[in-house]
Amino acid sequence: MTRRQRESGRGPMTRAPRVRDGGTMTIPTPPSVLSVHALGKSFGPTPVLRDVSLEIQAGTATAIMGPSGSGKSTLLHCMSGIVKPDSGAVLLAGQHIQNLGENDRSRLRREAFGFVFQSGQLLPELPAIENVALPLILNGASIRDAKATANTFFAPLGLDGLQDRRPGQMSGGQSQRVAIARALATKPSVLFADEPTGALDAQTSWEVMRLLRESAQQIGSALVVVTHDLEVARWCDRTLVMQAGSLVAQQVAA
Ligand SMILES: Nc1ncnc2c1ncn2[C@@H]1O[C@H](COP(=O)(O)OP(=O)(O)O)[C@@H](O)[C@H]1O
Ligand SMILES: [Mg+2]
Repeated sequence: MTRRQRESGRGPMTRAPRVRDGGTMTIPTPPSVLSVHALGKSFGPTPVLRDVSLEIQAGTATAIMGPSGSGKSTLLHCMSGIVKPDSGAVLLAGQHIQNLGENDRSRLRREAFGFVFQSGQLLPELPAIENVALPLILNGASIRDAKATANTFFAPLGLDGLQDRRPGQMSGGQSQRVAIARALATKPSVLFADEPTGALDAQTSWEVMRLLRESAQQIGSALVVVTHDLEVARWCDRTLVMQAGSLVAQQVAA
């Protein structure tokens, strides 16, 4: 990504053409892949999200930071249709996701969204290649095609030769790279990552984040990363800060 693209919060995949507008040059805002409007959510009497609105533009990377308990994971879960908000709306490419039935929402999560968590998301009894192929099989691909597609993710993520290892036979960094491959295999519109480097040392975190950012960008997936780690946030185009259920600040990367 060039400095100019980084400053404008726009990746190379989403660079919008300049248009002439009555003699002045304007750069149109790239389309939002996900729009979040005035989300509210409480667990019992306690509000966890208060009037949260944001836009996620195609191909960009957004970090969400904030203290523990400030509602970051809940926001991610509402944005991705895992949890229903009490109020407000989430639109994927203009479509209200809460209006969908449970089956359609599950399909949407499988087809349009990818997820990477802190750890423990791989199925321990399956070799790496089958872990990556699984979402493709669930989306209807044959086992043979799914494995062939899954295999294409191994070399770019530095995982060649680990196809037959089970999660227990890999390091934490290798497991997270397999988890990234699995999340990206379906070419999601949005890749959500909740503390993806939370269980890794600093050097491994840096490498995992570099691969996460670069592979998402290559596929054209927007990336939304919840993190405590400023070094992780530095890989993103902007950082949103949450406090007590509200978005309180936004910083665009220099
Ligand atoms: N399923 C749940 N049931 C009850 N309370 C919850 C649930 N999920 C989260 N909370 C509460 O909501 C608040 C925000 O949690 P969370 O979104 O996980 O914060 P963060 O990810 O920023 O640490 C916390 O007080 C947490 O205990
Ligand atoms: Mg959390």
